[in-house]
Amino acid sequence: MSDNTVQMTQMNYDSDRPAAENPVKIMDLTLRDGHQSLFATRGRTEDMIPVAELMDEVGFWAIETWGGATFDTMHRFLNEDPWERLRTLKRYIKKTPFSMLLRAQNLVGYRNYADDLAEAFVERSAENGMDIFRTFDALNDYRNFETVVKQIKACGKHFQGCICYTMTEPRLGGDVYNLEYYLAKARDLEAMGADSICIKDMAGLLAPYDAYELVKALKTNVTLPIHLHSHFTSGMSPMTHLKAIEAGVDIIDTCMTPYAYRTSHAAVEPLVMTLLGTNRDTGFDIKKLATINEIFEKEVLPKYKHLLDDSKVSIIDINVLLHQTPGGMLSNLVNQLREMDALDKIGEVYRELPRVRRDLGQIPLVTPTSQIVGVQTVNNVLHDTPEERYKMITGQVKDLCYGLYGKTAVPINPEVQKKALKGYPRGEEPITCRPAEVLEPELEKAREAVGELAKDIDDVILYAQFPVTGKKFLEWKYGITPAPKEVQPVTIEEVRKKDEIIKKAKAGQLVEKKSNAPAKTDALRSFNVFIDQEYFRVDVDPVGGPMVARASAAPAPPQPVVPAAAPAVVRAEPAAAVPPPSGSLLLAPMPGMIVKYEKKVGDKVEQGETVVVLEAMKMENALPAPTSGTIKAIDFASGDSITKGAVLCVIG
Ligand code: CO
Repeated sequence: MSDNTVQMTQMNYDSDRPAAENPVKIMDLTLRDGHQSLFATRGRTEDMIPVAELMDEVGFWAIETWGGATFDTMHRFLNEDPWERLRTLKRYIKKTPFSMLLRAQNLVGYRNYADDLAEAFVERSAENGMDIFRTFDALNDYRNFETVVKQIKACGKHFQGCICYTMTEPRLGGDVYNLEYYLAKARDLEAMGADSICIKDMAGLLAPYDAYELVKALKTNVTLPIHLHSHFTSGMSPMTHLKAIEAGVDIIDTCMTPYAYRTSHAAVEPLVMTLLGTNRDTGFDIKKLATINEIFEKEVLPKYKHLLDDSKVSIIDINVLLHQTPGGMLSNLVNQLREMDALDKIGEVYRELPRVRRDLGQIPLVTPTSQIVGVQTVNNVLHDTPEERYKMITGQVKDLCYGLYGKTAVPINPEVQKKALKGYPRGEEPITCRPAEVLEPELEKAREAVGELAKDIDDVILYAQFPVTGKKFLEWKYGITPAPKEVQPVTIEEVRKKDEIIKKAKAGQLVEKKSNAPAKTDALRSFNVFIDQEYFRVDVDPVGGPMVARASAAPAPPQPVVPAAAPAVVRAEPAAAVPPPSGSLLLAPMPGMIVKYEKKVGDKVEQGETVVVLEAMKMENALPAPTSGTIKAIDFASGDSITKGAVLCVIG
């Protein structure tokens, strides 16, 4: 066995230099985690094709192309079939294996799915072109690996087992997440037949010297290749990479420069240069990497730069060192508070978060547990009173308390657990078995529910994981309803035109003259617009005829605000022309999307009974009837996006 010191071995730096003795292998994350971290997972397949063949030439150990949030955002926001991306990229990337992020029994969704669906999903992923299944469970409960691992192996594919890296102390150690914990997890993975082990540091918490100790211990105790996935968020990861390399790590995750840093990963190019000429030289040709970067910079990134959170100059988020929250989770919390006009409560959220995490069993914070803890924290801050904590418990927290996600690192606070499970439909006594044991098979049910809309098994699997948005997507896909403009791609020319207009506006050359302007109509109205000391006159001519004034003297309902991440269709609250039936109103406590109504007009409800399930920030919230009575009116349907304060139903 070679020692782990990194040594200079040659002075030939040409691209055809001889291979190093033990090169560090690199997995590229640009096409998945890169745009998921920086650009809200909005990367389109058409923007990956221009670099695909070049990336295949670099010599990456693997390219991460799929999984994580891509499956959700593609069908929901991009009108793209996630399966098609896999097949398309495979036509361009022929040599380099594909890797995906698989949330174990959560697949690529946000809850544990039944075994039959999990088996079908893995089989279809392999069939469509997936090679390496990087598998993790948010609770590090490997009972949630059993079903998918069996299937990955049956398909003859690579099973990479993850250990989610988390801490309760500022550094590796303490009573829960110490070195023994990680070694025990690694041995469990080895016993399960893992082909490699990944240390999954989703929040960038792994400090360089802890990485050295951890990797060294893993290399001594298990024989499998060790792969490090460490986000840049806190700024430590390039140092962490180097110390891990010195400790003998086998594979490192990086991104191409335009997709690197901030909450993403360190860039590949500095690492290539750092190791050049050593016994761990990657062997990569830096010029090839530069060519790829140029295409990204010129042809692709202009379409996405508006998604980059540039509210801060600093690219390092020290909050992660203080609060241990992954970057994606932080931006979710901020968005959620902003939509509810409660951004001033962020300090309270930071204080409440560790308390909620402790109550819920000191769980790692990674999808979906980061959303579970994050949304419950926001609920507590906004709705709790000094007399009552956990006033509004999300469905997912109830599931967690029941044991549906698996075993938590330490026991859940019994008081919170009892409150969460009061009236819980599966029972008030939590389970201790493998969670999927209690789940009914669901593939056939999904097949029946989606009916003719699904043309093949891949459609059914998509629908089974995302019944509401999946159905919408299948309707777009098969031309039953037209896909709204918001989900259509933009061209680079459109982006350049828009940039040009913004530039002109900033330069004071306000309006572009349009030669083909339509004639003004009688409906033209003029407005005076005041901006600081400046004054503009703006003429507005409604397209499609004059506006009709509302007949009612009542004040017009407030215009709905479209939540930043919401699907396209936002239904306004009904116009005030028809007076709403009198009675108690169930108002939306937060913006979100209607998953389903449990009641219909005419049904009797008891106070506290669930009327409607609302999805907010990917968590489902069961909203109870504010009073007993009969449902008199329901204004929305499944799939509708609603604003805070929208009238969800009237009870009289
Ligand atoms: Co990641």
